Amino acid sequence: MKSGPGTVSVIGLGYVGLCTAAAFASRGFKTVGIDIDVKRIEQIQHGRAPLYEPRLDGMLKRAVRKKLLVPTSDISQAASTHSIFLTVGTPSRNDGSIDLTYIETAAEELGRALRQKQSYSLVIVKSTVIPGTTNKTVKPILAKSSSKTIGVDLGLCSNPEFLKEGTAIVDALHPDKIIIGSDDKKSASKLKQLYTRFYGKNLPPIILTSPETAELVKYASNAFLATKVSFINTIANIAQAIPGVDVNHVAEAIGRDPRIGPLFLKAGPGYGGSCFHKDLQALINFSGELGYSPILLKATEETNEQQAEKVVELVEKLTGPLEKKRIAVLGLAFKKGTDDVREAASLRVVRLLLKKGARILAYDPLAVPNARKSLGESVEFAKDERSALNAADCCVVMTEWNQFRELQTKDYLGLMRAPNLVDARRLYDPKEYGAMNFAAVGLGPTRNDF
Ligand code: UGA
Repeated sequence: MKSGPGTVSVIGLGYVGLCTAAAFASRGFKTVGIDIDVKRIEQIQHGRAPLYEPRLDGMLKRAVRKKLLVPTSDISQAASTHSIFLTVGTPSRNDGSIDLTYIETAAEELGRALRQKQSYSLVIVKSTVIPGTTNKTVKPILAKSSSKTIGVDLGLCSNPEFLKEGTAIVDALHPDKIIIGSDDKKSASKLKQLYTRFYGKNLPPIILTSPETAELVKYASNAFLATKVSFINTIANIAQAIPGVDVNHVAEAIGRDPRIGPLFLKAGPGYGGSCFHKDLQALINFSGELGYSPILLKATEETNEQQAEKVVELVEKLTGPLEKKRIAVLGLAFKKGTDDVREAASLRVVRLLLKKGARILAYDPLAVPNARKSLGESVEFAKDERSALNAADCCVVMTEWNQFRELQTKDYLGLMRAPNLVDARRLYDPKEYGAMNFAAVGLGPTRNDF
């Protein structure tokens, strides 16, 4: 492959890497996808995505068939491309701080692979990394292992990603902005050219800034969204204690104010997923190292942790003591449209219910295999939502899957032992569930109960 501007490598084929590689290949870029996991590479070579994401399988199949995507575990192949994205994982250490081992190893090996290369290439840090990582960690490692001068014969940029699981492909093809962080004009302009080529006349606004600012934008974005969720859950917990109040109406009303906006104001069991908790912990830890304690962010996390207890309180309110009670849990994924259970609120709620002696029968349309890995034999898994409800003393809805919306009072009443329903995702119109003992996050008691 000739390493012209239409050639791209993506190192680390996790969630972000795979979607990025698929997006570039789908627009005709010759793309090399690199990962150390040989099994994963074999799967991708057969056009199968090693994770669930709508549209991804089809895109990979087409890209591999047309030879636009070359999956490999050989990092030296990155040298045959012009732009090289680093999308390796940045997990948390036990104290919440960021673990940069994968970034360091990838930078080191990439530098060695580029050592003999004569022409210019551009390295782009897309992994979520704390401010300073591109300059203080990636840059010196790359410079040493490649023996090149960064900014002269090897470009370097920070370019964070804002993909959401479940809509990652649409997000990659239609982002609301592109952040380019660089200390030298050449790197920034090369990356701008790449995106101009990719998006054509639909090029989103590009924000040019320093690498450190770009890195902080990513954390600020996730921290703000997580704080919005914890904020509305706080209001939900207050609303829940006031007769006649519904947090959904409060959210709808405040969301009309353009300064607030309607999104991320859905009260529920607390946020989950691989990013919010990890990124907040990393930012809190990083701030601590700078000598600043970000109490707002700590409260966001604490509120989120406590929200699982609030859901369990609702269950107890309906059933009384949980010892030996049979609880149906509908939904395990951290949100609909994914099989991912990382940091899912369902896991926190299930663990609390188990601790109180409840027996759990759980169901999720996609996430059972992943939930089984986390919960093991402590929980029974049902084959569908109706079997989960069988002889249950209470049902708690934990993920907003559309198919759960279709369950009506008669389905619940016909299958369960007791008519107790906790709607932790606000799927149902409380008025239609009047024949049941119905409780929901952020829904105050009716005035008659008061
Ligand atoms: C999040 C961000 O939204 C992406 O922009 C970012 O790129 C990504 O993290 C990342 O850093 O990789 P994601 O983890 O896929 O994306 O999930 P979200 O759709 O943001 O949802 C996170 C959690 O918040 C879910 O558990 C969801 O149910 C919950 N949530 C969201 C609420 O409880 N209420 C809301 O109103 C919105």
